Amino acid sequence: MDTAKKHRGTSGPATGASESSHASKSSSQQHQDALTFVRRDLTKAHQQDKKEFFSNVAAGVAHEINNLLVGAIGAANLATKNTAISAQLQEELRLIEKAGAQIADFVERLSLAAEKGIYHFKKVDLSAVLEKVIKAQVHQLPHGLRVQHQVESDLPRVSGDAEKLEKALRALLINAFEACETRGDLVHVRLGVENASSIDPDELFWPFESQPHKLLSLSVEDNGCGVPEDVMVRIFDPFFTTKFPGRGLGLAMTAGVVKRHGGSITIRSVQHKGATFSIFLPAE
Ligand SMILES: Nc1ncnc2c1ncn2[C@@H]1O[C@H](COP(=O)(O)OP(=O)(O)O)[C@@H](O)[C@H]1O
Ligand SMILES: [Mg+2]
Repeated sequence: MDTAKKHRGTSGPATGASESSHASKSSSQQHQDALTFVRRDLTKAHQQDKKEFFSNVAAGVAHEINNLLVGAIGAANLATKNTAISAQLQEELRLIEKAGAQIADFVERLSLAAEKGIYHFKKVDLSAVLEKVIKAQVHQLPHGLRVQHQVESDLPRVSGDAEKLEKALRALLINAFEACETRGDLVHVRLGVENASSIDPDELFWPFESQPHKLLSLSVEDNGCGVPEDVMVRIFDPFFTTKFPGRGLGLAMTAGVVKRHGGSITIRSVQHKGATFSIFLPAE
């Protein structure tokens, strides 16, 4: 996309003020500038506190619900085995079990968004993970939408948790499909390898955990509605959505999973033309 925008957080000290322009400023202006810097630092610290607060609350809630759920699902499961109960009651108990499984899934997404959850790291072939996710999703493709994918050969592995990576990729694909609901008809997924030096650090939403040399790069490009500026600044906030209440955990979860893998994300978008979400993960 030629008019691709670069995006990061909007806070942080302003740059570009030359020393001579600083010297020519009045003392009250300098005082004002200093206050602006302090305010920005406080805003940053406040955002960090809020993130930590969310993370702790989400992890606590997830833990408590999980404990309670084990008992509830277990009891419903045992009751279904009771042959003395009516077929209707059996059916209702199954609905309870199903709702329990949906709550468990929600709780897992919540804890992944909070950058928590138990990870089992192994050598992962990301192309196999991608293949699996695409295969599962193409059956539910909205009418008229095409998905193309391109995978480089002989890709290095990543150290990762395949199940969590699956969830992160699925969330990106579903977003791309949904972005094409009103306009757009093509989602293009690319998986390849890149040198870290070829990635502009200013474009990353957060820096890499360590300085990787080679990265696996997975991008999901759609020609849908695009991401407006006011959405971009809140896009990874848990429960932020432009869809309907109860949504908004997809990208928070993707960000949580990518961070736990030491990776980062870029988003390029042109409004009404589409968006490209790219995940970068350190290669083994
Ligand atoms: N591919 C995309 N194109 C345009 N907007 C997007 C795209 N992906 C995500 N968004 C925006 O980011 C918001 C948050 O996404 P997400 O966290 O997945 O939550 P949800 O999809 O449930 O709303 C979406 O509501 C949408 O406004
Ligand atoms: Mg989503």
